[in-house]
Amino acid sequence: MYPIIAYIKFLFNSSNQHGVHSPFVYNFVTKCLYDKTKYEAYTKLEHYKKELRNSKTTLQITELGEGSKTLDANLRHVSKMAKTSSSSKKDAQLLYRLSKYFGFKNSLELGTSLGMGTYALALANPTSQIITIEGCPNTSDYAKSKIVNNNIRNVEFLVGNFMDTIPNLKEETYDFIFFDGHHNKEATIQYFEALLPKVHNDSVFVFDDIYWSKGMTEAWEYIKNHDAVTVTVDGFHLGFVFFRREQVKEHFKIRM
Ligand SMILES: C[S@@+](CC[C@H](N)C(=O)[O-])C[C@H]1O[C@@H](n2cnc3c(N)ncnc32)[C@H](O)[C@@H]1O
Repeated sequence: MYPIIAYIKFLFNSSNQHGVHSPFVYNFVTKCLYDKTKYEAYTKLEHYKKELRNSKTTLQITELGEGSKTLDANLRHVSKMAKTSSSSKKDAQLLYRLSKYFGFKNSLELGTSLGMGTYALALANPTSQIITIEGCPNTSDYAKSKIVNNNIRNVEFLVGNFMDTIPNLKEETYDFIFFDGHHNKEATIQYFEALLPKVHNDSVFVFDDIYWSKGMTEAWEYIKNHDAVTVTVDGFHLGFVFFRREQVKEHFKIRM
């Protein structure tokens, strides 16, 4: 119920590019979020999703984070996971555009699941480096085999709890971090704080499901108000965070 009420409120308070005075945000909205180009890579993403949906494989799941609102059993069908806990086609396309638009050279993803987002990031910049972390070993292995089968070589798959893995990350900074696992307030704030030292002026953070629960929205408010953050774009389903010191602190709600 919470996400539905939140969405109705969002519809009243959000806009499109009109009224956005910041050239940086205007360009981001019009040239990236609203880019309607049918990129060739979209076909690959569609095939990948189709393969997952048609898969007969079941995986023994190690449950971490908040789990799924719809899947209970520990033995899960990949086909069902593809529908419920893996990035949608639309989100994967957006991740692809985002990485292409900003030209991310290195990205970190919290929550590999079946590798839908990972694949999108890898396709966007084949020479970039992508690190993806997953707490469930069988899920990570499955995603890795699928991604490698698709001739992707620029992804490193790490297995472990986010909080145990983050301190061992070698990279000093990341251009992009996708927070897509463990959707609760305290955990989200904890991962945000833990990864803040890895930020440079042009880094971008994206948080998935910022209206999944009241707690997630509270975490989003905490992030918006943080001193390190300048601009945020709330697209309802996803929240985009920028750290550019040249921007005045400003928050946008954009219908996507
Ligand atoms: C929503 S799915 C990720 C979807 C994926 N990013 C995509 O684009 O399709 C979240 C994943 O995060 C993993 N996860 C949740 N909490 C975790 C934690 N604390 N440590 C490691 N992995 C975690 C879950 O096992 C699950 O596979």
